[in-house]
Amino acid sequence: MRKIRLGVLGSGSGSNFQALLDASQSGTLDAQIVLVLSDVVGAGILERARNANIPTGLIDCRGCTSKFPLEAQQETAGTLKKAAVDLVCLAGFMRMIKSPLLEAFPGRIINIHPSLLPAFPGLEAWKQALDAGVAETGCTVHYVDAGMDSGEIILQAAVPVLTDDTATTLHARIQLQEHRIYPLAVNIIAATIP
Ligand code: GRF
Repeated sequence: MRKIRLGVLGSGSGSNFQALLDASQSGTLDAQIVLVLSDVVGAGILERARNANIPTGLIDCRGCTSKFPLEAQQETAGTLKKAAVDLVCLAGFMRMIKSPLLEAFPGRIINIHPSLLPAFPGLEAWKQALDAGVAETGCTVHYVDAGMDSGEIILQAAVPVLTDDTATTLHARIQLQEHRIYPLAVNIIAATIP
């Protein structure tokens, strides 16, 4: 079976990218990471990719703060297509994906989110869970659609909320599960891509 080609998009430290990379290097990922793109010049994800000799690129958001301009999405789609990417993995990418990119990769963009969706979509989901006083939260890998963390769920893992949890400790435990399930979800999808 061929290894599908992954493009990873991230804005932050890139620990989920690292989990995918580690799985790829240890031979447990049915995919190869061919490109990492970020909208943040100094993002840790870019440094991790460079250290692993994986091609990187910067998404030019034209100085935008939170939106992802349509021309920038078109350019990003072109860059991913040029690299013959089969599956796009969002790993801490902080901009909403809209039609130019969604149309270029229908059913081929996935995201990891730090809650048991549909509970707590949006930012800092671990804080939302803590504030809501739930006994259990977790993480979700899901397909990306035009909504906010609303696409079809692929895989989830539960994480208990402990009585002495802070936002930091809870997020750290959720991330351990993220790093475990993201490679598993990629393998589930890889099995469906010829
Ligand atoms: C993760 O918690 C992920 O669930 C969310 O953004 C965070 C990215 O962390 N979408 P990292 O950059 O992979 O460390």
